[in-house]
Amino acid sequence: MKPIAKNTAATAISRRSFCKTLLAGTSAAGLSTLPAFAADEILPYEAFASSFDDVPETFGPTRVSFDRPLPKDLSGTLYRNGPARMHRGDTSYHHWFDGDGMVHAFTLQPGAVTHHAKMVRTDRLIAEEKAGRFLWGGFGTGFDHSLPVNQPDDINVANISVLPVGDEVLALWEAGSPWRVDATTLDTLGRKVFSPETDGLPFSAHPRIDPTGRIWNFGYLSGSGKLVLYDISASGKLNRTSIIDAPNADMVHDFAITDRYLVFVLQPLRYSSNTAVNLSFSDRLEWDNNAPVHVLVVDKNTLQTSHRFELPAFFAFHMGNAWQDQSTIRIEVATAPSFAPLMQQIVQATSRQQPDTPPPQPKTAEIRLDLTHNRATLNPLPTSGIDFPRFDQRFTGSQTQHLFMMARSGNMPDSVFGFNSITAMDRQTDNEQVFDYGAQTIAEEHLFVAAPGNTPGKGWLIGTSYNWKKRRTALSVFNARHIGDGPIAIAELPYGLPLGLHGQFVAATGGV
Ligand SMILES: [Fe+2]
Repeated sequence: MKPIAKNTAATAISRRSFCKTLLAGTSAAGLSTLPAFAADEILPYEAFASSFDDVPETFGPTRVSFDRPLPKDLSGTLYRNGPARMHRGDTSYHHWFDGDGMVHAFTLQPGAVTHHAKMVRTDRLIAEEKAGRFLWGGFGTGFDHSLPVNQPDDINVANISVLPVGDEVLALWEAGSPWRVDATTLDTLGRKVFSPETDGLPFSAHPRIDPTGRIWNFGYLSGSGKLVLYDISASGKLNRTSIIDAPNADMVHDFAITDRYLVFVLQPLRYSSNTAVNLSFSDRLEWDNNAPVHVLVVDKNTLQTSHRFELPAFFAFHMGNAWQDQSTIRIEVATAPSFAPLMQQIVQATSRQQPDTPPPQPKTAEIRLDLTHNRATLNPLPTSGIDFPRFDQRFTGSQTQHLFMMARSGNMPDSVFGFNSITAMDRQTDNEQVFDYGAQTIAEEHLFVAAPGNTPGKGWLIGTSYNWKKRRTALSVFNARHIGDGPIAIAELPYGLPLGLHGQFVAATGGV
């Protein structure tokens, strides 16, 4: 990985200041001498990072109208989380995943949406606010001055996803505790402790909610060779935990569940014992292309491993749905060849650098685990989707027909990081519908919202997108069966939001 310029944000700000000075100086000389860009023009390779410029502590509440009527049955709140604060004092992160978390609420009303957002006030944020600088490194940024890490929550930024439970939204990181946020005010209420025994243990950002509302999750502690498993009631009460042996469990971002099993896809990333203080977490992860992916199948009844499989090395952050088809478990997975190139793309996008690796290509696949013959295969899926798989969560663990993902269209500049289109793949016919937001927009995760009733796949797709030319974020609503027709309603906020990670929708009638 190339060395990173430490003051890239300051460099970019200086460039803008320089442009403004230049513009002021040339105004008397005539417009013909103006440079070819406006003072605040964002170049394509700066598009991603521009969303993190001057992020305030709070947004809104801001009410904006949709351009067309919303379906009358669509009512509720989209909660989203993501890294927001990338700069403090003279310190900057250079990796997207490092920023302090900000939880957003987009509440739908007839014809309008109200948006508000607040930083998650973790112990870390409060300590660094007081110090006026970042005190610790993070997932992808190392600092020479980093303080020691005594426990995972010392560096918890609560910035990956949300888990609505009752009147609260849990702001999720993956290597430490969830943080409790009031679902109405978005005020931070404190660290979530499910039980004294699990106090401070890692809790992943990708819990799976089964059709009864029961919450399944896991946590990993790098270097331990173990995973902790959680079985939690719909009301947030911890039912059971267990600890299982897990090879390659040094970074585990997501998992999948069927009606009977939990499935872990453990990739060949090894946590280095190098204790140099200025190394980030990702700096310490070493990819071994000759080592296998280990797949563990855990029986929900016993919370113990019942089957083990191996596959050739591949990397994946996210999984879609999984289900059992007779004696075969099928798992949708968004794969990539390895870890380091993706990390490099993220660092360069966050740091306003021209990328020197090509944009990601679609490699979505289905893992098939034959429980009878103890055989595992990785089978490509014919979709242009690259990442952020979503599906009809009412049917988590049983077969679903539609897989929604984020993708890149042909008109997205190679130097812009992220996605600009959404895909809807029909798993029965292999047909795909695509909507392209265009060259000047970075689209974030879009998620399925079910229509009333119990018809599988009937509902809407809802998601945010950031127009980096205008510095504006919009919320779009699609008919999930007709993605290719484009949004049925769009509401544009009067500001741009920091590009985030994951969300959940809470229907006005309750449930996700
Ligand atoms: Fe994720």
